[in-house]
Amino acid sequence: MRSIVKGVGHYVPENVITNADLEKMMDTSDEWIVERTGIHQRRYFTEGKDTTSSMGARAAEMALERAQMKKEEIDLIIFATLSPDYNFPGSGVLMQRQMGLSTIPAFDIRQQCSGFVYGLSMADAYIKSGIYKNILLVGAEVQSNIIDHSNKGRHIAVIFGDGAGAVVISADEKETERGILSIHLHAEGEYAEELVLKHPGSIRKNRMTVDIIENEEHRAHMNGPVVFKHAVSRFMEVINEGLEANNLTPKQIDLLIPHQANLRISEYIQKKMGLNDSQVFNNIQKYGNTTAASIPIALSEAWEQGKVKNGDLLCLAAFGSGFTWGSTFVRW
Ligand code: COA
Repeated sequence: MRSIVKGVGHYVPENVITNADLEKMMDTSDEWIVERTGIHQRRYFTEGKDTTSSMGARAAEMALERAQMKKEEIDLIIFATLSPDYNFPGSGVLMQRQMGLSTIPAFDIRQQCSGFVYGLSMADAYIKSGIYKNILLVGAEVQSNIIDHSNKGRHIAVIFGDGAGAVVISADEKETERGILSIHLHAEGEYAEELVLKHPGSIRKNRMTVDIIENEEHRAHMNGPVVFKHAVSRFMEVINEGLEANNLTPKQIDLLIPHQANLRISEYIQKKMGLNDSQVFNNIQKYGNTTAASIPIALSEAWEQGKVKNGDLLCLAAFGSGFTWGSTFVRW
């Protein structure tokens, strides 16, 4: 049994925030942001219009259309997000309601920037076990409202953006070449607090207090240099793990779509692996780091641009908060 990516879609909110816009909010510059991250602009959601689940639904509808499938054929939802609409229930059921899907099960999963690759492994396992046949996997985030836009949070504010991406993954009993070839996942909780949003969480008796707000602890915290250092080595390790498992060399990769964490991280991996520009896809320049949404948004745009063709060997790789990381190889 093979798990085939039948369709891919994305949705980004219309509100474009340029580096010049951020310059008005904090002490930063276009030059600093572009040099350190490669990002020129990102999208921010509009309250009352976009939500994590509604953006996920828009991306999912596009993926279904491109898969030429009806929503009634979907039998499982996996929704990857660190920024659900509510603390509970998850965004998966809210998207189910919005799309008018039947009483199929809906997971929310929380592996942050690795959420999409983790979700893919769940979808693949469910398909290979024969339990579900057509799975909607969504990565969606609203992060602009968990960012500290003061000088204290400027190293985070310049990186993250909002958006959603989705894929339809289907079972194919006859296929022998195409589909998901391998998935390798890892986690290392030792570094949980290096990229974290603590509050409102359950560790304090009162989930939200004045001091939490005054200390900006309801905003994301990131130790940038530590994250960078671990990201570059873990990305390399887990891509190499997948290459070895499939008996492949970097030259055979048609397209590497790394989680869009930071253009400098992608460029480092590209250089270390000896890949040429046409073997790596980046769109962080336009959207910033959209966490669980970044890989499916990039996959959708690469597909639109004709850079993902039947028979191509794709590598998708991610690293993020947790720390969590993973890679997958897919024959398209
Ligand atoms: N504009 C201008 N200056 C900034 C700034 C901003 N937006 N953010 C930080 N700075 C300053 C710092 O205050 C510091 O100043 P100082 O030397 O006077 O103290 C200086 O720039 C260097 O800060 P540092 O945090 O050490 O920068 P860096 O070179 O590590 O770059 C990141 C910061 C965030 C770009 C980088 O660490 C990074 O990309 N980390 C990985 C982030 C990532 O990928 N996260 C997602 C993982 S999924």
